[in-house]
Amino acid sequence: MRQNVEIPAAEELQKQKLYTADMAAIMQVRARGAVPMAFVRTYGCQQNVADGEKIKGMLAEMGFAFTEDENEADFILFNTCAIREHAEDRVFGNIGALKNVKRRNPSVIIAVCGCMMEQERVAERIKNSFPFVNIVFGTHVIHKLPEMMYTAITDSKRIFVRGQERKEIIEGLPVRRDGKSRAWVTVMYGCDNFCSYCIVPYVRGREKSRHPDAIVNECRELIEQGYKEITLLGQNVNSYGKGLPEEINFSELLRRIDAIDGDYRLRFMTSHPKDATHELFDTIAESRHICHHIHLPCQSGNSRVLKEMNRRYDREKYLSLIAYARSKMPDLSLTSDIIVGFPGETYEEFQDTLSLIEEVEFTSLFTFIFSSRPGTKAAGMEDPVSYKEKTVWFSELLKTQEAIAAKRCAAMVGSEERVLVEERNEKNGLLCGRTESSIIVEFPGEDTLIGEFCHVRVTEARNWILRGEKIS
Ligand code: SAH
Ligand code: SF4
Ligand code: F3S
Repeated sequence: MRQNVEIPAAEELQKQKLYTADMAAIMQVRARGAVPMAFVRTYGCQQNVADGEKIKGMLAEMGFAFTEDENEADFILFNTCAIREHAEDRVFGNIGALKNVKRRNPSVIIAVCGCMMEQERVAERIKNSFPFVNIVFGTHVIHKLPEMMYTAITDSKRIFVRGQERKEIIEGLPVRRDGKSRAWVTVMYGCDNFCSYCIVPYVRGREKSRHPDAIVNECRELIEQGYKEITLLGQNVNSYGKGLPEEINFSELLRRIDAIDGDYRLRFMTSHPKDATHELFDTIAESRHICHHIHLPCQSGNSRVLKEMNRRYDREKYLSLIAYARSKMPDLSLTSDIIVGFPGETYEEFQDTLSLIEEVEFTSLFTFIFSSRPGTKAAGMEDPVSYKEKTVWFSELLKTQEAIAAKRCAAMVGSEERVLVEERNEKNGLLCGRTESSIIVEFPGEDTLIGEFCHVRVTEARNWILRGEKIS
């Protein structure tokens, strides 16, 4: 039998460097001496944002500068998300709108990549309904962008690449980071959990952890460059380390990063409750740099629904984790994801979600109405509750959480917070940043403070946004 032999990562990277040099020369000619321009739009989660930063890194090496205007671009790329139907519909609409851009500028190269493209039905739809799209590629072949662009241009043909998941992670791709003070560092790729509603394991492949040295070195470089906040990324960071030659878990990885000296803070997402350990909470409590904030998606407060979701924890386990975490860190801030209207969920079961969020008092929530994803187990389940009814439950959830968030924020008035200033709010002219607990604080100040830590006294709570003043 013929074996599918994977080109070693270093060799693959070298090959792409050669294509990068060729592409730089080609684009110089195509842009007639001007700097070639790229338009890159990323949808979806931070994982996609991190991929987008690598794509921009590769484009920068090909000589591209970046634009926010599709009409002045020589290369347009949409990096897509498949998590909910609504997300997909938006992407289809926006790709459709590129037809006019292509008509005005026939030489523009249009590429679509990301999680949506790993689904056959979607890739087929692009192939058949959007003939002006030149390149379609999935999540496993990002590093081949130079080669795909080269082939699309020199052979004048459309390129479609799906699958080709690698065993070995490609390290060393260039990164062009969007921010100057906050950075994303992927620690693991893929997901093995197969929650019954979720498309991610199908479009992102199996869990693969990066080597700890590569992660620690990347963090050290970022801190040396002056980055003030690093967020470690993975669909389930708590299962970090599986399959690595060295025995290491996520807590140990956190300790190694935390050992780096410097003025920075560390976050991570996402933690799956089934793999969250006491060791993890102890590590956060004892660390120097890890924020006392954890994003721990519960999805539902009802144990039967959680079982149907294949989450592999129940309400009691979730609550006992939180009790332990809070016993170690009374100031711990918790955020979560909730799905409303999972197939078969009853109104009474939904009430258990409300009671859970009231019991835990989350700082904030990301809330979603269930969206059926073709190919997942939940897509085949009976779903008797109407969408309209679910929107009523959804409003109830929002109302409940808004009151909780407002109460938590009101309790912070008078406190002193260390805020990482992100930007100026153009609407009200105030500086805007986040506390360690991930709450937005606005306060008057100079532009020089953007990207820096500031000590701020909270003077007012406006629902779930705080106002304050800098402590000099
Ligand atoms: N790996 C993370 C979640 C990634 S997806 C975790 O396990 O927590 C982000 C969130 O989208 C999920 O937590 C879930 O709340 C929501 N989500 C995922 N699939 C969904 C679907 N089919 N319908 C509605 N919400 C969904
Ligand atoms: Fe999806 Fe579950 Fe994996 Fe999160 S852990 S990405 S919700 S399958
Ligand atoms: Fe979307 Fe893919 Fe993230 S489906 S949520 S961009 S992993």
